[in-house]
Amino acid sequence: MSSPMPRARKPVIAGNWKMYKTQQEARDFFAALKPLVAAAGHCEIIVAPPFTAIGVSAEAVRGTAIAIAAQDVYWANEGAFTGEVSPRMLVEAGCRAVIIAHSERRQFFGETNESANRKVKAVLAAGLTPILCVGELLAEREAGETQKVLEQQLRGSLAALTTAEFSRIIVAYEPVWAIGTGRTATPEIAAEAHQFVRNLSARLFTAEDANSLRILYGGSVKPENIKGLMAQTEIDGALVGGASLDARQFATIVNY
Ligand code: PGA
Repeated sequence: MSSPMPRARKPVIAGNWKMYKTQQEARDFFAALKPLVAAAGHCEIIVAPPFTAIGVSAEAVRGTAIAIAAQDVYWANEGAFTGEVSPRMLVEAGCRAVIIAHSERRQFFGETNESANRKVKAVLAAGLTPILCVGELLAEREAGETQKVLEQQLRGSLAALTTAEFSRIIVAYEPVWAIGTGRTATPEIAAEAHQFVRNLSARLFTAEDANSLRILYGGSVKPENIKGLMAQTEIDGALVGGASLDARQFATIVNY
């Protein structure tokens, strides 16, 4: 179902560096990336460095269309929460968005739909864009539970959001079995899940807001498969892990 129509929603290509890159490596990355994506007005570009490289990254992209995101956040403004970082600290450091409830946070660090919900609300209150991640495990897909899992994750993580708040979020559909495995969901499998997320959003909020929601696909997105994914009208962009670490590869994905 590739579409000859112009896109209704502006695509977003986001890179998630995970626990990679020092400050110097971040500077080198942006020096290489900037000229390669200078003409890319067709999409929004977001890069999420580790906390320690957010400041230098924000400095490096100043005056460009590249936005910096964090990979996680805590929901309080400040307090005795050793090891945590608040939304307002991220704003000051130069962030415009925050990835929330990435499957690695859910799997290794105890993230739940309830904690994700608190983070989404706190990030919105600070004026940042939440990029909320959802996605099923392989066993859940094989048991035919994909939609049930997505529904639980979305209902839980978006609980008590107003429609105005919902209109400011981005959702990333990341089937856990496709992350870092080289096993991409086919464009059709991804589009089917995106359609489900959009239909559920219409039921939870309004049809209009669901229609303008950007839903990114994540899981082994590479220069070789981005075109096929973006040919699906349901896929509004990508959340890229491994391939976002290399400026050339990431630029090729941005310029799909
Ligand atoms: P990957 O990671 O592109 O390395 O599969 C995607 C992600 O975790 O967001």
